Amino acid sequence: MSAEKYYVTTPIYYVNDKPHIGHAYTTILADVLANYHRLLDMPTYFLTGTDEHGQKVQQAAEKNGMTPQEQCDQTVVRFQELWKRLEIKHDDFIRTTEKRHTTIVQKVLQDLYDRDEIYRAEYEGMYCVGCERFFTEKDLVDGNCPDCNRPVDKIVESNYFFRMSKYQDWLIDYIESNPDFIQPAFRANETLGFLKNKELQDLCISRPKSRLSWGIELPFDQDFVTYVWFDALLNYITAVGYGSDDEMFKKWWPCSTHLIGKDILTTHTVYWPTMLKAMGVELPESIFAHGWWLTGRTKMSKSLGNVVNPMEMIDNYGVDAFRYFLIAEMTLGQDASFTEEAFIRRFNSDLANDLGNLTNRVLNMTSRYLDAKLPEVNAAVVEAEGTPEAEVWAGVQAAVSEMETAIPKMKLDYAIGQVLAAIRGVNRYLEQKAPWTLGKNGETEELGVTLYTAAECLRVCAALLYPVMPEKMSALRGGLGMTDTKPQLDKLTTFGVLAAGSTVTQPDALFPRIDVKKLEAEKKAAAEAEKAQKKAEKKEKKKVEPSKDGLISFDQVMAVNLKTAKILEAEQIEGTDKLMKLQLEVGEEKRQIVAGIALHYTAEELVGKIVVIVANLKPAKLRGVKSEGMLLAASVGDKLTLVTTDGELPSTGAAVK
Ligand code: MSP
Repeated sequence: MSAEKYYVTTPIYYVNDKPHIGHAYTTILADVLANYHRLLDMPTYFLTGTDEHGQKVQQAAEKNGMTPQEQCDQTVVRFQELWKRLEIKHDDFIRTTEKRHTTIVQKVLQDLYDRDEIYRAEYEGMYCVGCERFFTEKDLVDGNCPDCNRPVDKIVESNYFFRMSKYQDWLIDYIESNPDFIQPAFRANETLGFLKNKELQDLCISRPKSRLSWGIELPFDQDFVTYVWFDALLNYITAVGYGSDDEMFKKWWPCSTHLIGKDILTTHTVYWPTMLKAMGVELPESIFAHGWWLTGRTKMSKSLGNVVNPMEMIDNYGVDAFRYFLIAEMTLGQDASFTEEAFIRRFNSDLANDLGNLTNRVLNMTSRYLDAKLPEVNAAVVEAEGTPEAEVWAGVQAAVSEMETAIPKMKLDYAIGQVLAAIRGVNRYLEQKAPWTLGKNGETEELGVTLYTAAECLRVCAALLYPVMPEKMSALRGGLGMTDTKPQLDKLTTFGVLAAGSTVTQPDALFPRIDVKKLEAEKKAAAEAEKAQKKAEKKEKKKVEPSKDGLISFDQVMAVNLKTAKILEAEQIEGTDKLMKLQLEVGEEKRQIVAGIALHYTAEELVGKIVVIVANLKPAKLRGVKSEGMLLAASVGDKLTLVTTDGELPSTGAAVK
């Protein structure tokens, strides 16, 4: 890493939907890294933004009945609001629909076209709408997209291509001779494997407007727009002045770290470097791919209804605790599991117990026994050999140096673990010295040494955690009587920074312990209230639409959207004897439905069945499990059979009339 500056980026996020935990994670990670570098007094630039073109956004707009620009303008606000709430201090937020970006993208395209790096050709390929990528027949897995497993379309069309293939050998060589370029190392091997095992194709960088109109128009052919990835990747340079502000560009480029999720490795480690090479621009110093957040062991997905909503977590547990959990829990590079139980466990042990207790002890006892004034204590107490003071201070200093080496290696969870170990060491020190007894016995001098040493240790630990929890750690510094809320990392190795005579105050409880029983009771009450409300609404609805003669109109029948669906997976819901959780394929869509059929069918009997569902039923939660639709069944007495079709249809999703 170059020592003069630090430039960090997040991927720019698609504005087809609201932000989720994956987006929040990368942005918090970038913020934490930027904060550490700012504390080191290093000029730091942190860029994030939104990816606003392409099929995904156009389709979302169509679905929501708005123009693509309206879709962008509405959704971008949700990202910007979340970043504000998460205390994200980015230096810039780029939107790819901004002129400062689109004009430079066109300039780059024109230049590459003029230099024959881009050419026009006829192309036939298998296209995945969801991933917006072409694949060859060989790439497909069981005829489906190798990335998302959805069906692909065969498309023949004229398009523009970037001569990516000619850079294959150069890129292999570059990655091999720059071991830090792609991190972690196993991801570099993944890219190398990809590059060495197959011939790199030229990259299709256009989309005919007849198929997709929402994009940046090619400057040399107005019938086409730019492929969204070719446009999006350029944000990393257009935002820092490429082609518009040479001085700024020189200051920040090359980027220190592009943070990305593992799913966008190829675009960043193959497309992006070859694009830069063709443009004659230096490559970024590193690209770091982190793993995925899972719910337990399952992938988060909208259809499974298990996506963590960052806003809810913040509302329930606070911003800093949420930031802390994400950074402490994920070993960078690997997948991690997010469950509320794990969150509460870590909150109660690390924050409420270890850090919270230490803070309370130091501040309470200084108030009670020393009139809230920090005493004068000589640094000699930690310099003397073998004293408890020297030992506890050494533990804290070890955390300082671990942090220093861990940050450039992106071992944040490890570094935080070291800080927590140091904090537990200070708590042990207090138990050993028992200042409460010293206070009662009037041993004021020894008490002063003890509390001051603990306060100094706390100051250093709070500074190390400040980049992760800026708000709470500022409050803690205030409690220790410090007037500057932001720490300086160069003061971390000096003992005696807290001024003698300054007054300590007790901030509001930093991390009040989460009472699990109380929380469960609250949740139960909320669920019951929701149930009661739904029941009341149902009753009300019945009142509003009385069926006078028991008959319904043709329009009412037509309003019910019945479709065929195939049962892919079935699983009885734990703790119930009737409810079955089903995963269904409804045409190209996947859905989850909870049905009360477990007394009549086993899971094995259900898988593979073609059934009829009410597809436009309002989603609901049954026993906390999301259900999107309803299965049709016929029943007499205690017998029940599912309504199915006469002979299997070629595909699911057929309308039932
Ligand atoms: N727009 C592209 C990126 C272009 S960058 C030039 C994109 N956007 S995205 O909104 O779909 O995803 C952004 C990031 O979120 C990706 O890095 C992806 O890995 C990450 N995540 C999405 N779900 C995730 C988890 N469940 N866990 C962690 N991160 C995941 O791709």
